[in-house]
Amino acid sequence: LTLYLPQDSVVVAMGADAVADALQVAAATRGVALELRRTSSRGLFWLEPLLEVEVAGVRHGLAAVQAADADSVLTALLAAGAPMHPKAIGPVAEIPQLKRQQRQIFSRAGLTRPVSLDDYQAHGGGRGLQRARTLSAAAVVEEVLQSGLRGRGGAAFPAGIKWRTVQQAQSASKYVVCNADEGDSGTFADRMVMEGDPLLLIEGMKIAALAVGATQGYIYVRSEYPQAVATLRAAIAAAEAAGWLGEDASGQTFHLEVRVGAGAYICGEETAMLESIEGKRGTVRAKPPIPALAGLFGQPTLVHNVLSFAAVPGILADGAATYQAMGMGRSRGTLPFQLAGNVRFGGLYELAFGPTLHELVNELGGGTRSGRPVKAAQVGGPLGAWVPLSDFDLPLDYEAFAARQAMLGHGGVVVADDSVNLGQMARFAMAFCAEESCGKCTPCRIGSTRGVEVIDRILHKQDTHANVALLHDLCDTLLHGSLCALGGMTPYPVQSALRHFPQDFGLTPEEAQ
Ligand code: NAI
Ligand code: SF4
Repeated sequence: LTLYLPQDSVVVAMGADAVADALQVAAATRGVALELRRTSSRGLFWLEPLLEVEVAGVRHGLAAVQAADADSVLTALLAAGAPMHPKAIGPVAEIPQLKRQQRQIFSRAGLTRPVSLDDYQAHGGGRGLQRARTLSAAAVVEEVLQSGLRGRGGAAFPAGIKWRTVQQAQSASKYVVCNADEGDSGTFADRMVMEGDPLLLIEGMKIAALAVGATQGYIYVRSEYPQAVATLRAAIAAAEAAGWLGEDASGQTFHLEVRVGAGAYICGEETAMLESIEGKRGTVRAKPPIPALAGLFGQPTLVHNVLSFAAVPGILADGAATYQAMGMGRSRGTLPFQLAGNVRFGGLYELAFGPTLHELVNELGGGTRSGRPVKAAQVGGPLGAWVPLSDFDLPLDYEAFAARQAMLGHGGVVVADDSVNLGQMARFAMAFCAEESCGKCTPCRIGSTRGVEVIDRILHKQDTHANVALLHDLCDTLLHGSLCALGGMTPYPVQSALRHFPQDFGLTPEEAQ
């Protein structure tokens, strides 16, 4: 009997290891040979631990399985046909929240064992690198350019332009660096790739190295992700053994190492991350020069988020046109949205750009878990704007969000019900900025602390008119005067809360202007 159970750290936290142990004991008691394959997670977290079994070539699921279920589950699984059990949910691919997705980066989620090269290749992995090896470096860059891929870390800069800049830079040594310091609240897509399909990231980085002429790569992972670190290291060893890394058959060399951060949000900012990899304190560098020209150790460096590199193998394998055909406007391809907070069906939703926030939160996500009305969603991490329910017709598209002073960022969506006070959340944004500021520039270092004080005065109705004006002025200064996005984007959650929910500050709409 072969069963599949995720080993993603979220699922382990939900008791997956105990389920695995209980199933082995139950099988041994019955004298049944059980092969339990620990796979990646589908990202349908409300169903985890999701145990799967293949029946006539179709994966069937049993949801929310606990150790106490092991005996009855095994009885059901040993009977012929589809499992008949209170926790059986039928064919997994038919789950509406999964069926509606266009999984590209996460096409193997739930199917493969993270470090198995055989599983990876049996499910389409490796084809991108294979094709890239038949192309010139310039042709690979052109393919990325034509795909329309934009940086998935949040800033959405055209990836192909970045690749071309690094490729054309003249230097004896160049680097490829993956930013895996996934610090945004409510986000977990980078972690899922690293824990669940690390070979995809390695393949994407190898293709990038071939294209831009880099010989050394680093994956900078936050220390809060120990399982990702361990899985990546095991996958790098497997890739070395398979000849993907090190010196390959054509004589090209690419070495890859994992570097572990020390828990600072600012080390997700690319130049602070480069400082940290160089062994220095993580503070932001002034740009220019851009890292593409002078990055790690002053050399041309291709820096991308995990999801950007992870999109590349698919683009090379299936061609730029296939990727380009998905999405809307200038937002091409897919974005793995991460639905979290107070939501019924929280998890990973990889969708082509275009559906509305309403479809994501209410239709797919099922509204709030508390059952109370949705009040707003914070999109794009702790520095993203609060989008009120009245704006849920917004299509998931970089430009549509920007036009309404919001952003998609890294695709994190945190849902709040009507019990949440957004005045307090605005205060939290300023406090978060003060806590995480690297201290290099004045608007952020001092402005964030002053911001907490000003919001407190507004919330306590002290000299309201003057303090609202001061808050707007402070936000303007942060927006335009900060050296990096931490200070520069803190006004987003603050001003969106003020604009859409003045009552949460004890203000009328006119007073909040
Ligand atoms: P940015 O717009 O300055 O740069 C984006 C990228 O494009 C950088 O890699 C930059 O070096 C590159 N670039 C810019 N101009 C270039 C050129 N002419 N040629 C080649 N490359 C060029 O944005 P930044 O400050 O790097 O990132 C801000 C974003 O980070 C925010 O929008 C936010 O969504 C996101 N963010 C993500 C977090 C996460 O956990 N994923 C956490 C916090 C913020
Ligand atoms: Fe540092 Fe804040 Fe200035 Fe960014 S905005 S450089 S985090 S002080």
